[in-house]
Amino acid sequence: MKKLFALFIFSLFTTSIFASEHINLRDEMMVMAQRLNFANRANSVEEFQQNMTAFIEAAEKSKVTQPPKWEGDVSQFSGYQQGLQKVIDVAKEAAELANQNKLNEAKEKIGELPELRKMYHKLYK
Ligand code: HEM
Repeated sequence: MKKLFALFIFSLFTTSIFASEHINLRDEMMVMAQRLNFANRANSVEEFQQNMTAFIEAAEKSKVTQPPKWEGDVSQFSGYQQGLQKVIDVAKEAAELANQNKLNEAKEKIGELPELRKMYHKLYK
């Protein structure tokens, strides 16, 4: 009986993990879009950096999450991950520019992201 109960609890956890996976990728992408927007409008290096940190965190999470529409087929996953890595690299370069107090250049750098978004959405979304 105890074993059965443990199994029941375990299955509750795993179900919720799998169920939340679908919501997660979309949610993380939404965070990315919002943080990019905030970073573009930032009035200080600090504000820019805070938003870029959250953007990168969401992009890292997206990078390890398979798009649910693939239903477990991982054949395109490495290309997908490379796309997100490119996005992360650009964001890190922008953060580096902001670190050097070059806020305008940092904003110019993240200007490259919408093009990457468009290209990779065509491929994988
Ligand atoms: C600046 C970079 C990016 C931003 C701001 C962004 C933003 C978004 C947003 C807002 C959504 C949900 C709304 C919609 O369907 O349009 C989304 C969905 C999605 N994005 Fe991105 N994206 C970015 C880059 C990427 C990259 C590089 C990839 C893949 C390499 C990717 C793959 C996807 C996928 C697979 C979905 C569908 C998620 C689902 O609903 O299951 N995105 N993205």
